[in-house]
Amino acid sequence: ARTYPFHGAHQAGIATPAQDRLHFAAFDVLTDDRAKLARLLRAWTTAAARLTQGLAAGEQGPTGGSYQAPPDDTGEAIGLPPSGLTLTFGVGPALFDRFGLGQRRPEALTPLPAFPGDALDPDRSDGDLCVQACADDPQVAVHAIRNLARIGMGTVSVRWSQLGFGRTSSTSTAQPTPRNMFGFKDGTANLKAEEPDLLDRHVWVPAGRDPREDWLVGGSYLVARRINMTIETWDRTSLAEQERVIGRSKAEGAPLSGGDEFAAPDFAAAGRGGLPLIDPRSHVALAHPDANDGVQLLRRGYNFVDGSTRLGRLDAGLFFLAFVTDPRTHFIPMQTRLASRDALQEYLRHTGSGLWAVLPGVNEGGWLGETLL
Ligand code: HEM
Repeated sequence: ARTYPFHGAHQAGIATPAQDRLHFAAFDVLTDDRAKLARLLRAWTTAAARLTQGLAAGEQGPTGGSYQAPPDDTGEAIGLPPSGLTLTFGVGPALFDRFGLGQRRPEALTPLPAFPGDALDPDRSDGDLCVQACADDPQVAVHAIRNLARIGMGTVSVRWSQLGFGRTSSTSTAQPTPRNMFGFKDGTANLKAEEPDLLDRHVWVPAGRDPREDWLVGGSYLVARRINMTIETWDRTSLAEQERVIGRSKAEGAPLSGGDEFAAPDFAAAGRGGLPLIDPRSHVALAHPDANDGVQLLRRGYNFVDGSTRLGRLDAGLFFLAFVTDPRTHFIPMQTRLASRDALQEYLRHTGSGLWAVLPGVNEGGWLGETLL
């Protein structure tokens, strides 16, 4: 059974090969007592170190404790393998002022601006803390979030949470590229764990950039966007239109300028009548580093289907997750461009959003948040 180490320079769940399932939770902090928050983060550290290694959340386990007390683990993971569980923790912009930490909030950790076409639901957005649980078994991911929420009772409450399946990214060259709900390969041109220099440049927070970030060195920023896809409209468009909108072929995921899936797109290549083979308004043309000052993201999103609406349409889409070194250079300009010009935008509605600073990794004996609190 697959396990990933909990301790290390960076938190697991970022460069870790993307698992199949997600349970992502955003929490509101209910206290303004810094010591209480620190106690919770210590307790979460201990529980996360155990859960990710396939152990129960608490030392007594689901049935080993007092008969008269609630068990320190809820029990639904009994008998299940660790399933590659990773737990990744972040802190949101609103946390800082509440705890008198305003001086330590990095400039980069400012709530995202409104983008054209946003239809954000506040009940699916933001949060003081976030926890990303990824595993190859949904029950293992849900069990982890549930037990962290139980441990946090009285100090934090779940603000919203999102389930996801069918990873829409590859974060390792060893993984085949999965498909999103539009049926296209997603994750072809993603940053991969095998490219540590690129991760240093585009994902991790470096030392010495902003004095307010000294507690975040080795961490990252996480952008989450719940993006609904108008599936039924998409399903009535021609294959030609679908490929034009993405800029890649549906079967192979190859750029429309030619070559195989991993060939570099040639945005200058022209076909009949001198028209570019890749539409300049296609998603790939506008998201490519050439159109974004060389910027690359580590995308680690998931498909979601939250049942159907009363009109019988799928409440479905892509729960977009991206880890970046700085959202001001690595997300905001790109999303601004995509929101106003991307041909794909016609089939999307952004319904949730959040930005968190992802804490640096924890060493054996350390705890999440020790550099901040
Ligand atoms: C690439 C789909 C939203 C950034 C791609 C690809 C697909 C795709 C099919 C091509 C394969 C690949 O390289 O992974 C979607 C869908 C979205 C969505 C269905 C929404 C439901 C976004 C958003 C951003 C983004 C919100 C960032 C603001 C990128 C980037 C690439 C990419 C950076 C790689 C471009 C390249 O280097 O060639 N996306 N995407 N995508 N997407 Fe998206």
